[in-house]
Amino acid sequence: MQTFQINTKEKREATGDLFGIFFEDINHAADGGLYAELIQNRAFEFDPIDNKNYHALYAWMPCQLDEKNGQTDAADVSLTVLTESPYTKKNPHYLRITANSAAAGVKNLGFNSGIALEGGETYHFSCYLRKIDEPVTVKACLIGKEGQIYASCELTADASDWKKYTADLKIAEGTSCTDANLALVCMTPGSVEVDFVSLFPAHTYKNRPNGLRKDLCEMLEAMHPKFIRFPGGCLVHDGQLDENARDSMYRWKNTIGPVEERPARRNNWGYNQTLGLGYYEYFQLAEDIGAEPLPVLPAAYDPHHQRKVPLDELGPWIDDALDLIEFANGDESSKWGKVRAQLGHKAPFELEYLGIGNEQWQMDNTDFFARYKIFEQRIHAKYPEIKLIGSAGPDVTSNHYTDAWEFYRKEKKNNPNFVYAIDEHYYMPPQWFLEHNDFYDNYPRDIKVFAGEYAAHDPEINIAHVSKNNWKAGISEAAFLTGIERNADVVALSSYAPLFARVNYTQWAPDLIWMDENTSWGTPSYYVQKLFSKFRAESTLDLGDQIEKLRAQGIYCSAGETEDKTTIVKLVNTTDNEVSIDLENEEGKALTPVKETVMCAALTDYNCAKNPMCVAPKETVECSGKIKMAPQSFIIVEIK
Ligand code: AHR
Repeated sequence: MQTFQINTKEKREATGDLFGIFFEDINHAADGGLYAELIQNRAFEFDPIDNKNYHALYAWMPCQLDEKNGQTDAADVSLTVLTESPYTKKNPHYLRITANSAAAGVKNLGFNSGIALEGGETYHFSCYLRKIDEPVTVKACLIGKEGQIYASCELTADASDWKKYTADLKIAEGTSCTDANLALVCMTPGSVEVDFVSLFPAHTYKNRPNGLRKDLCEMLEAMHPKFIRFPGGCLVHDGQLDENARDSMYRWKNTIGPVEERPARRNNWGYNQTLGLGYYEYFQLAEDIGAEPLPVLPAAYDPHHQRKVPLDELGPWIDDALDLIEFANGDESSKWGKVRAQLGHKAPFELEYLGIGNEQWQMDNTDFFARYKIFEQRIHAKYPEIKLIGSAGPDVTSNHYTDAWEFYRKEKKNNPNFVYAIDEHYYMPPQWFLEHNDFYDNYPRDIKVFAGEYAAHDPEINIAHVSKNNWKAGISEAAFLTGIERNADVVALSSYAPLFARVNYTQWAPDLIWMDENTSWGTPSYYVQKLFSKFRAESTLDLGDQIEKLRAQGIYCSAGETEDKTTIVKLVNTTDNEVSIDLENEEGKALTPVKETVMCAALTDYNCAKNPMCVAPKETVECSGKIKMAPQSFIIVEIK
């Protein structure tokens, strides 16, 4: 039995935005993930530049509807991808279907096993059609593997110019599946051209047009994130300097407006990105889940390929930053504020934070520090209130990190507004997170930290699989986060990375939330994040040198007080033994918990589709005075 004293009088101000999220389109987090579009390669833009297995008809196949046999792939049809006269040059490919017999055409396979359909749900279908000679009637239908038709509509391509067609396809109550295809077949022999084939469930998150998957957004909302950093990651800086290049760096202006005009691009994680989830949708998502938007812009420097814009040509890149701030915050009389209002959001998005570069570092021939200085001068000359986020490079162990801190620190001495926080990244083994619980204890307090990307990577699991998100990783992050919370006066922002992974489309694990076509589940790390957010301390309480003594025994701790004056104590027991603790205040008076929330599991346990809550929090309302910490447990006690 040990006694642990909480000094409820000694309070440290904790910053409000400590726990947030970081979204990057990796592991199909956007297309095939959060973005609710169900058609893969909807505009025939997939290209080997994205992925060597891609081609313009990727995820599409010939298809013949046949009354006797249902549907067959041996279709009497020729499919040609053309570029001569597209609907828009931004997405130049389109498909010509020439059906040699009735009911021949093409079908889209969706992602993975197919399209998930829910009984009773309506699906918004749309496509562009153009006739070649005679009008052709096209049947669009959601079909099952056996050829059963779940819903269909008929559209007559009767115009020589591109024309948009829409229809609502309703699935009968009680009929659900995860393996449907969307077929487009010509009812009579003939030719027709097709582009931008799209299918969205009617019920997206908040039912926004061009919307996002409800279950996933609700999981984000439940985290109560204070901010959302987007759109990456390496995704931001990996690419060509020319904004019109197919594999350009991520340029925000390419991502707004009608989806047809957003040029599909190479996603550096090895697939194609439609940009259907773009900056407007990111800002809207941030608002909808109650988080502050934290966009990251490229600093016109790709550290992976040594591409860089010369310093005296940075103008357009800085204009992009200024225009983005106006897009988010300007009123309707401003050029970009008007664009936002026309897109549907009259009120400003109240952008406060802006990241300049992801994982940027100084090299002999690439002066990142000089370019940050230019961005900072120009941005703050117009918008001094914007809190800029600098970058400490890709790790916290190399010279990139120490050089970056030295640079920002020196500059900040003469210019207090030079940088608000430095973005640090660390993907380390669980043991590192335990050994670095004190990482921020002695950090200088002159510049804030943004722990922008971190996760415990268990080296014993070397495949990109859900099991990499085991409790060993989760509990070590919980232990580390007690250190972050204790140091909330210097660590202003933090976010786990990456956020999402789609099963079978995974380039990187561990991740916070996993999904397949219609289900999603949180990892142990997700629940750890959620608990830190839920029990966010408004102010932290001093625990003195007890922290070190406990740490030496494998126990990690933070304490704080919430807005409603509840004392919250977070304890992590990383030992294989049960540990009992008595809590008392600074006067030696016993503190009695009223509620406990516990996460406890075997270190190898993890959550998966079949067992999504294997490692999840459990709440106990009636507690005894003593805290009994089970082996390998994370416990949060509330004291009124
Ligand atoms: O989170 C995955 C990647 O890790 C990010 O894109 C990058 O910033 C980091 O290297």
